[in-house]
Amino acid sequence: MNEPDTIKVRFAGTDDIDAMAAIYAESFEDFQPKLAVEQYLRPRGSWALLAFSTLEDQAKPAGFIITRCAADEAEVFSIGVARKFRRHGIGLVLLDAMNGVAAIQGAREVFLEVGIDNQAARALYSKAGYEIVGQRPDYYRNPGGGRVTALILRRQLENIQNLNTQHM
Ligand SMILES: CC(C)(COP(=O)(O)OP(=O)(O)OC[C@H]1O[C@@H](n2cnc3c(N)ncnc32)[C@H](O)[C@@H]1OP(=O)(O)O)[C@@H](O)C(=O)NCCC(=O)NCCS
Repeated sequence: MNEPDTIKVRFAGTDDIDAMAAIYAESFEDFQPKLAVEQYLRPRGSWALLAFSTLEDQAKPAGFIITRCAADEAEVFSIGVARKFRRHGIGLVLLDAMNGVAAIQGAREVFLEVGIDNQAARALYSKAGYEIVGQRPDYYRNPGGGRVTALILRRQLENIQNLNTQHM
């Protein structure tokens, strides 16, 4: 079992897109994972962080988060952790690190969307302090047909001094 202090986080660059796409491919049903990652990174103000386990192959990232900051809000576009690294605290560390960067960039709150049926992500966000503030009925298309409601979640950011940036 990994511990959070064996996880390191850094900013992703354009050289990391293939590695992010590989994690994206095993996290989401999407035929074009690289295109999806590139599209998330395209908007002005978007950036990504990568998490690495210092106990494992350090060359390959274990997870990523893509966020956009605009004015005093941040929006998480995507977060994914490679299957073999799940339940090792990497998702929480990525959210923590993202909070720190977003706060430094002036964000006071973070928004994200999650499928109502995505139990793992909902549990992660709940543990990370997110609350449901709205929903979009029939928002996501299921690969097998049908539609899934998206929940809109929000978390306020504390003072920068209180945010956890120990992994960066
Ligand atoms: C959601 C996801 C990012 C979680 O990443 P992770 O690194 O495994 O999460 P963590 O290990 O930091 O989990 C932190 C807490 O979240 C909750 N949690 C995470 N995964 C869970 C699961 N499968 N079932 C129940 N609770 C879960 C637990 O409370 C966990 O704490 P614990 O392990 O001490 O019980 C990962 O499962 C994933 O990549 N899923 C596919 C992509 C996805 O759905 N992204 C979110 C889209 S909105």
